[in-house]
Amino acid sequence: ELRGVVAVDGPSGTGKSTVARRLAAEFDAEYLDTGAMYRAVTLAVLRAGVDPQDPDAVAEIAAVAELASGTDPEAPTIDLAGEDVSEEIRGPAVTLAVSPVSAVPAVREQLVGRQRQIIADALARTGGIVVEGRDIGTTVAPDAGLKVFLTATPEARAHRRAAQDNASGRRADVAETLADVRRRDTYDASRAVSPMRRAEDAVTVDTTELDIPGVLSELAALIKQRG
Ligand code: C5P
Repeated sequence: ELRGVVAVDGPSGTGKSTVARRLAAEFDAEYLDTGAMYRAVTLAVLRAGVDPQDPDAVAEIAAVAELASGTDPEAPTIDLAGEDVSEEIRGPAVTLAVSPVSAVPAVREQLVGRQRQIIADALARTGGIVVEGRDIGTTVAPDAGLKVFLTATPEARAHRRAAQDNASGRRADVAETLADVRRRDTYDASRAVSPMRRAEDAVTVDTTELDIPGVLSELAALIKQRG
């Protein structure tokens, strides 16, 4: 049984989302994709015609953005002002602008507060939640019962992302995706406020040579060990 919070952190292209979702489903727990929240705020910024590089203007948008996250791992959703934006937040415009938006301290403060509330609600309701992001083990839920940090080589991650994009009908080539992966890694790991970092008590799982079922069975074993 999965009780409490399982934190799944790491860069994109490690299989993080798929694994976190399936893990939650397997253990009848809830699921929160915090990256989707940063992406939805970024979409709000773009829709408002605000420059993603203007921290004060971005913070104002974040403060009033009406976000709602559905935490069912079988059908997670993210709404912005009552509209389901799950698809739109995966597009190139949002992907390009999300790193500077999520580096704004006031944005992080806003979203970390909302994330903690969602986690508290889930714990009261279901008793268990898998939360994925970059700073869950370090900042959002430092008391999580299990912290996992997923890694993989940049090349492996770029291959996976490009395949994922192509499968969803967004044309992507590996070289461009690799450049994007490296750009976002550098940005996310070097921002001043809660940079992407492995928590000291996180278990690192290198997914370069593992497929999704392989990663899942490692994580399921960790949960059973701790349970
Ligand atoms: O996980 P995903 O690739 O959708 O996240 C998009 C972006 O949101 C990341 O590149 C990062 O800039 C930001 N993010 C963050 N903190 C989190 C989750 C995502 O800064 N906990």
